[in-house]
Amino acid sequence: MFRILVSDAISEEGLAPLLNAEHIEVVQKKVSDVEEYLDQFDALLVRSATKVTEELLAKMKSLKIVGRAGVGVDNIDVDAATKYGVVVINAPDGNTISTAEHTFAMMAALVRHIPQAHVSVKSREWNRSAFVGSELYGKHLGVIGFGRIGSEVAKRARAFGMKVHVYDPFLTKARAEKIGVEPCTLDEVLSVSDIITVHTPLTKETKGLLGPKNLAKTKKGVYLINCARGGIMDEQALVAFLENGHVAGVALDVFEQEPPGDHPLLAFDNVIVTPHLGASTVEAQLHVATQVAEEVLKFLEGKPVTSS
Ligand code: MLT
Repeated sequence: MFRILVSDAISEEGLAPLLNAEHIEVVQKKVSDVEEYLDQFDALLVRSATKVTEELLAKMKSLKIVGRAGVGVDNIDVDAATKYGVVVINAPDGNTISTAEHTFAMMAALVRHIPQAHVSVKSREWNRSAFVGSELYGKHLGVIGFGRIGSEVAKRARAFGMKVHVYDPFLTKARAEKIGVEPCTLDEVLSVSDIITVHTPLTKETKGLLGPKNLAKTKKGVYLINCARGGIMDEQALVAFLENGHVAGVALDVFEQEPPGDHPLLAFDNVIVTPHLGASTVEAQLHVATQVAEEVLKFLEGKPVTSS
């Protein structure tokens, strides 16, 4: 008999492989509600809310595996998990399409001022001249990071008639040709793009990638989108480049601190925001939950697991 703690809101339908297994007991509760018997769980399933710290891992003495219903594992102390011999798995591709679609929705909303116009009409105004936007067609889109999500964004951009310039050290010429994008250096992407979207994980190398030095290399009037991880764009630098009018607008689904509280970026009319919704669709949540549930079940049954 194995006991699994599901400590964040994870699609019930996706958990079916675990809920239907006879030798598994699934407990869907917050960590704080099971403090007294944390040492009795063999597996832990989380989304973003639970922080899997060294302290928590130390208390979960029977823990063998942590499953993250999403791509990033930044809410899990992977080094501490390794120290305690706990395997960490994720759902590498369950939310690719949802996040790419959200990025595209943010892009369209940004250049057509949809959120601002929405608020205006709801305030009983009818100000058509205040919201003149620009077309995506023919514009240069810079994509930084060309993994699963970046390449899905690029495919959609091509369908909209955009010219796509990609910076990713791992992008091969053959793959670029197949999708119809231009492989570039980072400086080329920065200088040629009308809109730049980032699709990298947050690492030592990507933290602050769009900071003062690189933002200064972008076109005046550039639009920026971050639906990947807070911190890839340096938030203080964004404030400075919005204040001096160099950046025309920013769309953010993610922040260095979530929730961002009373962040200065929220005061700009040309900054549009969502609360980390990239993966928040019925479909993506079902896919990621099913992926981790199946893998955790395989692991507990002693079968090999696959994860990114
Ligand atoms: C991810 O890492 O896949 C997403 O940020 C997941 C989420 O929104 O929970």
